[in-house]
Amino acid sequence: MHLLFVCLGNICRSPTAEAVMRGVVEDAGMGHRITVDSAGTGDWHVGSPPDPRSVAAAARRGVALDGRGRRVDDADFSSADLILAMDRHNLEELRGRAPDDAAAARVRLLREFDPESVGTGSLEVPDPYQGGPDGFEHVLDLVDAACRGLLRAIEDGSATPTARG
Ligand code: 4NP
Repeated sequence: MHLLFVCLGNICRSPTAEAVMRGVVEDAGMGHRITVDSAGTGDWHVGSPPDPRSVAAAARRGVALDGRGRRVDDADFSSADLILAMDRHNLEELRGRAPDDAAAARVRLLREFDPESVGTGSLEVPDPYQGGPDGFEHVLDLVDAACRGLLRAIEDGSATPTARG
C-alpha cells in the first residue's frame, strides 16, 4: 500500500502528515506493508525543505520532517493506492488531474479517516502558512488523529473501497 499526502506547497501540511503517518505505521509494525510520500499541487517550493515552523512544531512531539518539496506528477496517480488531500482545494485540483474515474476515487480528504472529524463535518486541515504558531500545532493535532484513523481503516480493509483501475 502506497500513500501520498498532498497539500498546496508541500512544505507544511503534507510533509507533516507524511512524517506522522510514517511513525504511526512503524509503531504498528506495518512498515513492510505501507509506504508514505508527499507532494504539493503548486510548484513554488519545489526543492525546498519543510517550513522551519513545521519542523519545529513536529520536533517538539518527537517527529522529524524530511524530504524536499515536489509537485504532484502524472505517475503519482498510478503509483499511489490512496492520495490524501489536506483541504477541498487540493481535493478538487487532484480529482481534476486524475486520468480516470478509478484514479479520482483514490483521492480522498485525509480527515475523512478521523471518525470524530466526520462527526463534526469539519474535514479540512487548514493551511497554516500565513498564520501564527498555533496553526502549526493545530495541523499536528488534526493530522495525528487522522493518521491513526487511516491506519485503522487500512487494517480493517475499508480504506480503499474501490478496486484498482
Ligand atoms: P502547505 O502550506 O500547503 O501546507 O505546504 C503552504 C506553503 C506555501 C504556500 C501556501 C501554503 N505558498 O503560498 O507559498
